[in-house]
Amino acid sequence: MLERFMTGASTYSGSVDHLIFLIAALVGFWLIVAEAFFFWLMFRYRHREGRTTQYVTGDEKELKRWISVPHMLVIVCDLVIVVGAVKVWMDIKQTMPPAEQTVRIYAQQWAWSFVDPGPDGMLDTGDDIRTVGELHVKVNTTYHFELLSRDVLHSFCVPAFRLKQDAVPGRTIRGWFRATRPGTYDIQCTQMCGMGHGVMAGRVIVETPEQHAQWLERVSNPAFAPQQAVSSPAPASAASAQVAEVRP
Ligand code: CUA
Repeated sequence: MLERFMTGASTYSGSVDHLIFLIAALVGFWLIVAEAFFFWLMFRYRHREGRTTQYVTGDEKELKRWISVPHMLVIVCDLVIVVGAVKVWMDIKQTMPPAEQTVRIYAQQWAWSFVDPGPDGMLDTGDDIRTVGELHVKVNTTYHFELLSRDVLHSFCVPAFRLKQDAVPGRTIRGWFRATRPGTYDIQCTQMCGMGHGVMAGRVIVETPEQHAQWLERVSNPAFAPQQAVSSPAPASAASAQVAEVRP
């Protein structure tokens, strides 16, 4: 249903959407019931000439039921949400399906840079491809990522993948995704990281195997390298990153 408002482009985007819908439906139901009852009480017991206010302490058994019964029902709904949330969490964050490809993601004030393993499929070899602001991935391929921060806390968020993961200085955080639909999707930092937080954006470009092979060939060409692919270390600011960005 959320698909109508925002594209879902990963294998787990649907299960995150279902969870959000489940929460909205349960919370929405109780919101409507509680507000309707509240307004009915206000109307039913509004001021009338000659009728005096009834003072209730709330200690009476039959009055207490008005609190305890809805309370129990809300707790049952909470449990349903907890079970659904734990299941989705386990699938996305606790279980790593075997990687077909591994990429490295660097967060820094205020740009994203990426290391693709290049034609040999291995990180930390001579043919690694470094890009700034653009992550190129193959559709229907399980990617593991190693997420690092060069300075402060950041958060790697790809809304279309329903993926969000904090980057913590000093730690290498691993996660995964499998894109299901070719296209260009936004990356946005979602953890306050200083002045440029709001403009710390990037793009994931999900390509067909043919498009990806063409991209690899283009950026692996030595003639291409100096201006367009970024050599290590990544530039220190988003402004210089823009200049060095790999253009499709
Ligand atoms: Cu990086 Cu906010």
